[in-house]
Formats: sequence, structure tokens, C-alpha cells
Amino acid sequence: MEVVEKISHLMHRFHSEAAEFLSQSETAESFRIRWLGKKGAITEIFEEMKTVAKELRPEAGKQIHALRQKVESFLEAQQKKESEQWIEATIAARHIDPTLPVQFGSQGALHPVTLMRHRLMEIFQRYGFSIYEGPEIESDFYNFSALNFQAEHPARDMQDTFFLADQSTPLVLRTHTSNAQIHAMLQEKPPIRLISPGKVFRVDSDASHTPAFHQLECLVVDRRISMAHLKGMIDAFVQEIFGSDIRTRFRPSYFPFVEPGAEIDVACTLCRGKGCQTCSQTGWLEIGGCGMVHPNVFEAVNYDSEEYTGFAFGFGIDRMAMLAYGLPDLRQLFEGDVSLHRQFPLYQ
Ligand code: DAH
Repeated sequence: MEVVEKISHLMHRFHSEAAEFLSQSETAESFRIRWLGKKGAITEIFEEMKTVAKELRPEAGKQIHALRQKVESFLEAQQKKESEQWIEATIAARHIDPTLPVQFGSQGALHPVTLMRHRLMEIFQRYGFSIYEGPEIESDFYNFSALNFQAEHPARDMQDTFFLADQSTPLVLRTHTSNAQIHAMLQEKPPIRLISPGKVFRVDSDASHTPAFHQLECLVVDRRISMAHLKGMIDAFVQEIFGSDIRTRFRPSYFPFVEPGAEIDVACTLCRGKGCQTCSQTGWLEIGGCGMVHPNVFEAVNYDSEEYTGFAFGFGIDRMAMLAYGLPDLRQLFEGDVSLHRQFPLYQ
């Protein structure tokens, strides 16, 4: 079939689907995917243009554009309608009267991430850790090179990074709280026993990743610190949060600033290890990374790596909150819906 003929078929199909759409309960999103998505009808016909004879292209192009415009404006109208309906339904369901005067100070609750941060800080303080805050805007030295990430090393790609524009020396929004290790070690002499909670940033967004998220870093440096201390400390705080029957697992892994390094998994708290959608049927959930501080890191901060050893670990606070409070999607934490927070009064 000639492409021009196909376009006119598509135009007919669009009109009949649009009419059907109005009488059925299809969502604008699935309509959009069918027409404008990666494998949608419009995208496919655009692809086909490559094979169309040169002299037919201008006319065919014009028609496709006309069709696309129709689809887009139809969708825009439907999306607007859907969001208006959503607002009305939400207001009706929650009995909100937007005309009432605002009552200041009478309601509110701590955010689940804040609650989890407080619980973690309380646990670690009990074990004698101090709390150290690191900066969110960071130089390459603290975020990468002092942590033994070599320039151009692919390990940097694991942390897809926001760089600040127009800086003569590169500045980044820190990709992890591990930068606090370097600040602390340059300021203090061993023994060190600290945690550093805070915000971190990466170019990442899906059901289990948000571009800004929260981590907690832990660093211990002293004489004769071993992997046994590391495992003991991780087990201790994980069990305080999730219950004494929750198991942890360490999988060997690579992080430039530790050797040996491992990923920390906890038994899935939703299915208690049986396998479910949240843990992709594995029974385990990864919460962070850990290991023994690499001698090159000690060298970067002028510590004697013959005299001192240390362990470090870092994990996502949001992930912990999601697991402890049974939230299926991490993004719920950042939608700003206060009805979520109100469910946690017991933890305040
Ligand atoms: N900084 C790592 C990340 O964000 C997590 C991490 C791994 C922290 C190993 C550590 C560690 O302290 O030892 O992916």
C-alpha cells in the first residue's frame, strides 16, 4: 500500500477510535501509547517515510503532520478532562471543602523519610556513633578522586551525575554520602565512629529510583577493625528496624573505596523472603553497599594504612522507609500527599 493511502487509512482509524474513546472507558495514556508511543501508529508511519519516493515526501509529510496535530490536540483535551475529573473525584472522596479557611498548626506529621532518619540516628547514637553532616555541593576530590575513583574510570558511570553549569573546576551535586568520609577523616584523627545522613542526587528515575534521594553513610576507623565488626553492626541495626528474624546477605561487589566490597541485601520485608513483586521473586532486597576502607582512601587523607583499618557502609534511607512502612512504590514518598504522612502517627 502506498504511504499516502496508509495515512488516509490512519486518519479514518483515528476518527473512529477517537469516537469510540469517548464512549468507552479508555485512558488518555493508553490512547497516547497506541498512537504516539515508541511503537505507536504515528511513530511507525514516520519511520516509513524513509522509504517513500522523494517526490511524494512533501505531500505525505504534510498529511502526517496534520494527522499528528489532530491526535495531539485530541489527547490534550482528553488529558485536561481526565485531570479535572480526577480533582473533582478526589475532592468528593476526601470531603475537602476548598472554600473553608485554612487552619494553621493544627495538623501535620513527620514525613516517613524523616521518621526513618530519626530512628536510624537514635540507634547509631546508642552504639556510640556521632553524626556528621557533609555538603551537598561537592568537588570532584571529595565525591570521587579521594574515594579512589580514578579519572575516566567506568566506576564513575554507576553514578550518573548532575554537574553544576559554568564552573571552572567541576562541581557536582554529591552522588552519595561517602563524601562525608573524606571530610571527616581530614578533620579528625582516628578513632572515628560516625554516621552521615543526607540528600544525594543522580540522573535516575523509575519505581525504585528518584533523582534526589537520601542515604546514610557509616564509617568506623580504628586499630584492628575487621569485617566481623562490619557485619555485626549491619545485622544489629537492620534487626532493630525490621525485627530480629530478618536475615541479611552480603554479595561480593566492587566499590572503588573499599576492598573487599559487598552489596547488602535484606530478606524482603513484604513477603519475609518468600518472593513477591517488590523483590522480583528473589526474596531479597538490596539496601546498600559496604566494605573495608581501601588503603588508597587512607592515603588520600594521610592516615597510616598499616596502623589503621576501617569499615564503611552506605544505604538508602528512602528504601528503608519504603520497606519498613510497606510502601510498594518509592515515588509515593515524594508526591506530597499528606494523607500518606498521617498514617504514621504511631511512630512520632
Ligand atoms: N556510596 C555507595 C553508593 O552510593 C554506597 C556504598 C558502598 C557506601 C560501599 C559505602 C561502601 O560506604 O563501603 O552506591
